[in-house]
Amino acid sequence: MTQLTPPGPAGNFYQQLQELRADFLAYLMNAAEAHGDLVRLNPGPGTYLYLVNHPDLVRQILVTHANQYHKSAMTQKMVGRFLGNGLIVNEEESHKKQRKLAQPAFHKQRVDAYAQSMVDLTEQEMQTWHPDKPFDFEARMNALTMKIVARTLFGTGVVGGTRKVGEIMEVFADAISGQFRALPLPQWLPIPRHQRQRAAVAQMDTLIDQMVADWHTKGQDNGDLMSMLLLARDEETGEGMTRKQLRDELVSIYFAGHETVAKLLSWVVFLLTQHTAVAEKVRAELAQVLDGRPPTPTDLPQLTKLDQVVKETLRLYPSAWVFDRSPVVDVELAGYHVPAGATIYVSPYVSHRDKRFYDRPNEFVPDRFAAGWEQALPKYAYYPFGGGPRICIGQSFAEMEAKLILATILSKTEFKLATTDPILPEPGATLRPKNGLPLNMVRG
Ligand code: HEM
Repeated sequence: MTQLTPPGPAGNFYQQLQELRADFLAYLMNAAEAHGDLVRLNPGPGTYLYLVNHPDLVRQILVTHANQYHKSAMTQKMVGRFLGNGLIVNEEESHKKQRKLAQPAFHKQRVDAYAQSMVDLTEQEMQTWHPDKPFDFEARMNALTMKIVARTLFGTGVVGGTRKVGEIMEVFADAISGQFRALPLPQWLPIPRHQRQRAAVAQMDTLIDQMVADWHTKGQDNGDLMSMLLLARDEETGEGMTRKQLRDELVSIYFAGHETVAKLLSWVVFLLTQHTAVAEKVRAELAQVLDGRPPTPTDLPQLTKLDQVVKETLRLYPSAWVFDRSPVVDVELAGYHVPAGATIYVSPYVSHRDKRFYDRPNEFVPDRFAAGWEQALPKYAYYPFGGGPRICIGQSFAEMEAKLILATILSKTEFKLATTDPILPEPGATLRPKNGLPLNMVRG
C-alpha cells in the first residue's frame, strides 16, 4: 500500500533551514543515515522536498522512469536565467533533439583532437608557478580549465579574451550557487547583485553574437565545438539550431565544462598531499609510462593508478554533488506517494558515502577501484556523471582533460599544503574547497 509521508528530520522549517545553512552536506548525510531510502526534508509549509538514498531509486529516477521527471522548477528558473534552454535544463523532445545534434561534438575522435591544446595550456600555466611561492591551486585550475573550454569551444577566437568570459561565468556560478546559501529574492528587486547578473547575461550574449558572426565570415569547420554545433543539422528536417538555441548550448557547455573539472583537479591534488604513498605510486607510474615526455590520449589506458585516484576522488568529492528532479505526474517511490511538482534531490555525495555499499566510506582508498570492483557494485551506487538520457555529455572530455592535466603536472611537480587550516568542502554549484587550496610547489 502506498504510504503518504516518508520519514525525515525533526524540527520545523526554521530549525531545518538553520541546520541546512550551517552545514548542508552534514544535514543531508545525517538525514540519509537516520531516515532510510527516501527522506522527506522540510523546506517550508506546502513544499515537498525529498532526498533519495538508494541505488535502485536513483536508477528509477534517472534511467528506468526518466520520462516521468523534469528538472525542478527552482533549477529551471535559477539555471535557465543564465543558461537559457541549453542541454542542462531543456526537456522532452527538444532535449532529445538538441542532445542528438550536440553529441557528435563529443565523440572520442573529436575530443582526442583537443588533447594537444589541453597539454600545451597546462604547460603554459605551470610556467607561472614558482617554488616556495604559495599560490591558490584552485583558482589556477579554474583559470586553466576556463582557457581549455574556451579554446575547445571557440578555437582561438574568444572575443574579448578568456578573462572577460571568465568574469561573466563567475557571476553566473555565484548566482547559481546562491540557491544553496540563501532564499532567492525576487528578480525585480533592483539590488546591485541582480543588476550585475543582468549585465553579465547581456555581455555574454554580445560576445557570443560576435563569435558566431566572426565564424560566419569564415564559415568553415575549425575543429572546435562551436563549428560542430553551427554545422549540426537535424537528420529529418535538415535544419540547424536557432541563434538563441546555439547561444544557450554554448553557454551551457562552457558553464558545465570548466568548474566541474577544476574542482576535481583541486581535490585530487589536495588528497595526494595527504596521502604521499599514493602520490609516489602515481609518480612512479607516470615516470614509467611517459619517460619524461608530455602525455597523449594513447597513454591514458596505461595510467591505471591515476585512473583509480581520479575515480576515488570523484567518489569522495563529486563535483556535481547534488542535482534534482521533479516528477511531472504523481509517482510512487520506495512505497511512498510523491506528488507531481515535488523536488527530489539526487546526491552523488551522499550515495558515494553509503556504508551499505562502501567499506571505510569516508577514507581515500583508490585501490578499491581495482579491476572488476566497480562492476560488482550495485548499479547507481557510484554515478559521478549521472545516468540515463541526461548523463553528462562531457564525461569523456572531462576524464581525458583531467588525466592529461594531472599527468602533465604530477610528472614534473610536487606540492605541500601552504596552510594548517583544514581543507573542507563547500557545496555550491560545484563542490569546492571552502577557502581555496593554498599550495607550495616543492619541486618543479
Ligand atoms: C568532472 C567533471 C564533470 C562532472 C563530475 C560532471 C557531472 C555531470 C552530471 C552529474 C550531469 C548530470 C546532471 C543531471 O542529471 O541533472 C552532467 C550533465 C552535463 N554535463 Fe557534465 N560533468 C563534468 C564535466 C563536464 C564537461 C567537461 C562538460 C562539457 C565540456 C560537461 C557538460 C555537461 C552538460 C552539457 C550536461 C547536461 C546534459 C543533459 O542534461 O543532457 N560536463 N554533468
